[in-house]
Formats: sequence, structure tokens, C-alpha cells
Amino acid sequence: MTTTAPQEAFLQAFHAEHPAVTAEAFSRGHAPDGRSSYEILCDRVAGSMRVLDLGCGDGLLLELLARPGRHLSGVDLSSHSLTLARRRPALFETRLEEGRAQRLPFADDSFDACVSHMALMLMSEIEEVAAEVARVLSPGGVLACVVGGGAVGGEAYERFLTLLRRSIEETPASQRIPALGDKRTRSREGLDEILGPAGFAAVDWETVPIDLSGPVEQVWTAVSSLYDLAPLDPARVERLRRTFFDEVTDMTTPDGHVPCAFKIRLVTARLR
Ligand SMILES: C[S@@+](CC[C@H](N)C(=O)[O-])C[C@H]1O[C@@H](n2cnc3c(N)ncnc32)[C@H](O)[C@@H]1O
Repeated sequence: MTTTAPQEAFLQAFHAEHPAVTAEAFSRGHAPDGRSSYEILCDRVAGSMRVLDLGCGDGLLLELLARPGRHLSGVDLSSHSLTLARRRPALFETRLEEGRAQRLPFADDSFDACVSHMALMLMSEIEEVAAEVARVLSPGGVLACVVGGGAVGGEAYERFLTLLRRSIEETPASQRIPALGDKRTRSREGLDEILGPAGFAAVDWETVPIDLSGPVEQVWTAVSSLYDLAPLDPARVERLRRTFFDEVTDMTTPDGHVPCAFKIRLVTARLR
């Protein structure tokens, strides 16, 4: 697949180096009820038998969705992530396509549900994505997404973001990532503006905190998996790492755990 958009070229290059980064960082995160953000999405589409994962990455969500009689498909820009997805035995029957959400390689009315975990907010030309999702869903079909909602506050992720912002301000423009996605995907009103004209009813919007607390090395691995760090030179990343370790010392519990959490927005919209 060829793509010319600099944002998509950046995402492809990043995931060529880190094909499973999101699943590795976030699969151990859990909501107050103990479920991961992936499991929460699975539950949202529990009754659907034909499910598409938009921006499926290395296939973790599809693997959780797999069950007898269910038809699964996934699409992603990254051939490297899809290679990992294809290695999952639970996905041997799954149709995994390299492609763009703006031009889905599926026929009209192919799915009862479309899920997307931490991917919708990265997509440009978002109206095209909404129109394509509406086209491949059957009437009454559901779009269920998780998009990032930032730090909870008073924990390590908030401190990390402050340090990262500072570090990026000191960084030459050549070491910054291109602006990714459409900001409207991060608010309820924005999503209604995008999805309404494509034929979806008003979105259902819920904020859920996801706990990623753990030993400092583990927390660092999760927070430093953000795209923004990719173009920074290694010395700058090492400085950021050291400062982060210092910054979280005061919040580290006696058993060595650092509190860390981020918010997800759980979005569901039904096609009229
Ligand atoms: C943060 S990763 C999440 C991967 C996976 N959903 C997960 O949560 O483990 C975002 C994924 O969306 C994919 N992606 C971003 N924009 C896309 C687009 N326009 N079309 C298809 N895939 C896209 C990326 O290649 C990447 O694999």
C-alpha cells in the first residue's frame, strides 16, 4: 500500500519499529472494575457476529473478540503490526487487510459492529473515515471506540506529560512529529459533528480511568511509548527518563509502586 500523507508515513515508520507498542503498554491497564480497555470494548459489541477492528494493530483486540461463529476482520496501515496479528492462532481465519480507514477494502453492509482502540483519534480526513464506517456497517450497526483522554491528574502520567511538553518545546522543529488526527475526535460534540452527517445517532460518551501503576521501570515503558518521543535524540530521551525517575520518587509507595493512570473516552454510536 502506498500513502503520501506525512502523518500516515510517520505512523507506518513508527509501527515498523514498534509493531505491538500499544498492546504491550496498555493491555495490563485496568479500569476500576478490573477490565482492560480492550475488554471493555469487547463487552460493548458482545452481541455482534460480524465485527471490524479499525486500526487493529497487532490484533490483540481481535484475539479477545474471537469466538466460534463470529466473523472478524481487521484493517491497519502498518504491515508490520499486521504480521504480528497474522501469527495469532485465534486469528488464522480472520481477514486482515493492509489499508486505510478512509478507503475500506470491504463491501457495503459487511459488519454489525466496528471497534477501534486508540486509533480513531490518529486519523486524518475523518469525515471520509466516518462515511466508510457507515458504508460497511449494516443499518443499526454499532461503532464502539476507545480514544485517549489524557492524564487523570496527581499521578505519574501527568508529571510525565509536563516533562515531555517542556522537552518538546526545547526541541528543534525537525525532531517533532507531524500533527496527528482530528481534534474533534477527542470531544463528544466533535464526534457528533463528524458522525452525525454520516448517519449515526448521537454518541454515547463515557470517561473511564485506566490504572497503569507499577514499578517505575514498567511505568516508564508505558508512558514513553508515546509517538512524540520517537524523533527525539537518544540523549534527550535519556535526560527525560532520568528526570522522570527523580520526579516520581516522592509519590512512590514503600513497596516500590508508582501511581499512574490515564483516562479513556469510551464512545459508542449507532447507525440509524
Ligand atoms: C495506537 S495504535 C493502536 C493499535 C491497536 N488498536 C491497539 O490498541 O493495540 C494505532 C493504530 O492505528 C493505525 N492507524 C492509524 N491511522 C490509520 C488509518 N488511517 N487507517 C488504518 N489504520 C490506521 C496505526 O497504524 C496503528 O496500528
